[in-house]
Amino acid sequence: MSREAAALAVLAQAAWEFGPAALASSLSLEDMVLADLIAREELPIGIFVLDTGRLHGDTLELAGKLEDRYGFEVAVYRPLAHAIEHYVARFGRDAFYESTGLRQQCCEIRKLEPLRRALAGKGSWITGLRRGQSAGRGAVAVQEFDALHGLAKFNPLADWSEQEVWSYLSAHDVPYNRLYDQGYRSIGCAPCTRPVTAGEDPRAGRWWWEAQGRKECGLHVAPVRIAAASRRPA
Ligand code: ADX
Ligand code: SF4
Repeated sequence: MSREAAALAVLAQAAWEFGPAALASSLSLEDMVLADLIAREELPIGIFVLDTGRLHGDTLELAGKLEDRYGFEVAVYRPLAHAIEHYVARFGRDAFYESTGLRQQCCEIRKLEPLRRALAGKGSWITGLRRGQSAGRGAVAVQEFDALHGLAKFNPLADWSEQEVWSYLSAHDVPYNRLYDQGYRSIGCAPCTRPVTAGEDPRAGRWWWEAQGRKECGLHVAPVRIAAASRRPA
């Protein structure tokens, strides 16, 4: 089975056996591949974006293209206004540069709490995680059980290389975030992402001021390989 057919089979399994399924899209290269596959097969998989309020304009623009080109109705989840107001008043809008604790609090308010709302009532979620993205992601499996949120998690591109992702995008003429043409290789919130230079780790531009080991925001934690028993009853 080709890589593409294998990814499609995973998406179909999520849709038909673990529905309702939703693709978490940060509008990354990988997420665009997945959106294109979902559209090609007309799979019943919703797409949501966690709009942290700090994303680049180019990223938000691409969400619009998902709607225009594929006709997807993208669900957008935003942080709670009162939580943002409290954080900004107490610590300052960009306090995440000051300590890992304040950075994690910002990620909790802007990403993790909205993610919990996005996943409520879902049977599974789908992400663009790849093993090659960083050393810390070397164990990512195609199918996992997300114990934190209590549902199945699928990473259909887990074993794809960055080159394979680019080949797919070019073969199918899929739109992508133009920031990748400006040296970015992993894109999150604007103030927490910088371009990387040749030879640097792809994720070196994420939270670049922090120690290497801490560079995850908490969206992807404690993966557990899925077991038959962890399936939701029909
Ligand atoms: S992160 O944890 O460091 O932010 P990364 O940017 O590598 O994650 O993205 C990995 C996957 O997490 C994406 O392919 C996507 O499935 C999901 N994801 C990350 N950020 C978002 C977001 N803002 N909205 C929706 N999904 C996201
Ligand atoms: Fe806040 Fe930066 Fe986390 Fe975005 S990536 S939620 S701006 S700390």
